[in-house]
Amino acid sequence: MEAFCLCISITTPKKNLVLLSDRRKSCLLKKRGIARFQSGGNVRKASGLPASRTERSVVMNTNNAAALMDSGSLVFAPNGNEKVMDLVPFGRPSTSIMKANDATGGIGIVNFIKGKTFLITGATGFLGKVLVEKIIRTAPGVRKIYVLIKAKNKEAATQRLRDEILNAELFNSLRLTYGKSFQSFMLEKIVPVVGNVCEYNLGLDEDTAEIISNDVDVIVNSAANTTFDERYDVSLDINTKGPKRLMNFAKKCHKIKLFMQISTAYVNGQRQGKIMEKAFCIGDSIAKENILSEPRQGSLPLLDIEEEMKLVLENHQFLDDESVVQKMKQLGRERANKYGWQDTYVFTKTMGEMMIDKLRGNIPVVIMRPSVIESTYKEPFPGWMEGNRMMDPIILSYGKGQLTGFLVDPNGVLDVVSSSGPLS
Ligand SMILES: NC(=O)c1ccc[n+]([C@@H]2O[C@H](COP(=O)([O-])OP(=O)(O)OC[C@H]3O[C@@H](n4cnc5c(N)ncnc54)[C@H](OP(=O)(O)O)[C@@H]3O)[C@@H](O)[C@H]2O)c1
Repeated sequence: MEAFCLCISITTPKKNLVLLSDRRKSCLLKKRGIARFQSGGNVRKASGLPASRTERSVVMNTNNAAALMDSGSLVFAPNGNEKVMDLVPFGRPSTSIMKANDATGGIGIVNFIKGKTFLITGATGFLGKVLVEKIIRTAPGVRKIYVLIKAKNKEAATQRLRDEILNAELFNSLRLTYGKSFQSFMLEKIVPVVGNVCEYNLGLDEDTAEIISNDVDVIVNSAANTTFDERYDVSLDINTKGPKRLMNFAKKCHKIKLFMQISTAYVNGQRQGKIMEKAFCIGDSIAKENILSEPRQGSLPLLDIEEEMKLVLENHQFLDDESVVQKMKQLGRERANKYGWQDTYVFTKTMGEMMIDKLRGNIPVVIMRPSVIESTYKEPFPGWMEGNRMMDPIILSYGKGQLTGFLVDPNGVLDVVSSSGPLS
């Protein structure tokens, strides 16, 4: 299996927590002046652009370079004299670029996967598909992959598996490999289950929950709401309580060997300068870090996730259907800003990490924090992307001659990774 990720292993009081950051991100975050694709507090707001921006689809007016710069999704801070060439891994000796060695099965992931059973959420999404394809192509010895899919019944879940996952062009290489037996091989390996990370026990029926909990070795949580300015109640339910429910389920899985949470590099918020990758614990906040770093310290804002949930409930009580959407969006933004994050998405994803840290006990956990994820790089073939998202509007409009100029700091670094990257 090709692997070029940078693995940073953090020793925390509890054992077995690893944070994986894509290589460029972990280097970039240690530099001042990052070119980031995320809305930031010091960014001019979009004019005439749709209000919803998501990590999967940064919305841009592709006809207007000025609007692109102005979109609130790009932060180009000066890089001073630092050069891109300087980007090198840093940190303790445990930080290492792991080079794949095909003859020996790379770094051992393929061997690990052999015979293992996975439960993957978010498999109908962009990254989830790439993950499922990658596992089956590079480790066909995987025993089974349960994919948790929102659907009204088993038939509908199976239909979504066929339509949205297996029929994706991304699976063409596997289609070629398995020919006529493609569908049967895939359906032997991939088992759709009806579920929802927002429901009690993941919305699984009792029998399915029992079977999976006796069967599963690895859980990967890729399900998320990636809209930056989502309603607070919605975002909190999926991105914070979702990981909590999944971790509670993981605790019932007798054979569990690994829980992987797909998070985002932007949980680092507006931190500046050299930042070591570090797990978030309950009570942490970026606002607290900022205050602690000031010579004259004010009172510490203590982030209490349970209180945030209560606040959402309280606010709900007094709102009618019409005002609830705007109020909840506003509340998310306010709470995120209060505690030092730039938007509701990254704030609730961070609290998701905190819930995992709080509940994991002895379960080995990997938290992966990719930056902006773009198309596939080399495998299964270059350039696969779902929709017109992330930087694609810029690349496409440049290719079509619609975007003739794009003002950037020449020393800035685009913080983007290929979808082949984080999953390798
Ligand atoms: N894309 C990026 O650039 C990027 C960068 C950094 C980190 N990430 C992280 O990577 C992960 C995947 O992102 P993505 O771009 O693949 O997102 P995506 O395309 O929006 O996919 C989201 C997935 O989550 C599922 N989901 C949403 N709510 C759910 C619920 N209540 N129960 C079960 N499943 C639910 C969706 O299912 P439906 O199809 O049913 O809606 C979909 O499969 C996320 O955790 C995100 O935070 C993404």
